[in-house]
Amino acid sequence: MRLILLGPPGAGKGTQAKMLKEKFKIPQISTGDILRQAVKDNTELGARAKIVMDAGQLVPDDVVIGLIKERIRQADCKAGFILDGFPRNIAQAEKLSETLIEMSLKIDKVIDLEVNAEEVVNRLTGRSTCPECGAMFHHISRPPKVSGVCDGCGGKLEQRLDDNRETIHERLKVYMESTAPLKEFYKKQGNLKMVEAKGSVEDIFSNVCKMIDV
Ligand code: AP5
Repeated sequence: MRLILLGPPGAGKGTQAKMLKEKFKIPQISTGDILRQAVKDNTELGARAKIVMDAGQLVPDDVVIGLIKERIRQADCKAGFILDGFPRNIAQAEKLSETLIEMSLKIDKVIDLEVNAEEVVNRLTGRSTCPECGAMFHHISRPPKVSGVCDGCGGKLEQRLDDNRETIHERLKVYMESTAPLKEFYKKQGNLKMVEAKGSVEDIFSNVCKMIDV
């Protein structure tokens, strides 16, 4: 099964992708995570990406398209994959379609997680992430048992540099201008499914799974 998760920053793409990964035993491919890892590893790509990511803008298309083309050809993607944060604009979506045609594959479902801007700001300003194991928390909706410490591995929780109000507003603007038009793009292809992404993570997951089965 090949899935795309669409939605604004903080819609819960990463949260739902991790649950889908467990349920369907297919990898979650997050361009944001790949880029953040490159920043952490101090690679040349990471240095270029960091400036753009900290400003809430999109990393150049050729960079992310190259990453995805290589990643989906890896052996663990044979049974499928979940794209989380890619594509981000029409040019990326067109390149993805071309690549999948070359590989005789197709996207089964595009799940659009819908949430309003106020909720986005609340979620992202309260998010913390474990740099060791990737676990995610929220100071109100999913607080760690011990403040600042990962429940799973004991790692020291961090806040993303782009999770400040100013950058969140920029990311939302970029989403509206570049990414939201993808809804129409995939609607025309007939595989777009909309899910209201407010409420409990479990209820949203149940609705996402229903949409996948349709
Ligand atoms: P990326 O990492 O993809 O960030 P994003 O799209 O802004 O999305 P987020 O990771 O912030 O949110 P999410 O939807 O995954 O929500 P989450 O599950 O974490 O991209 C970062 C940057 O990298 C971009 O700005 C860009 O610069 C670059 N980039 C990435 N991909 C690119 C591409 N293809 N092209 C070019 N540039 C690219 O949840 C958020 C919080 O809410 C958490 O605390 C969580 O616990 C909480 N939460 C989740 N669900 C609920 C719920 N139902 N109720 C209450 N709280 C909830």
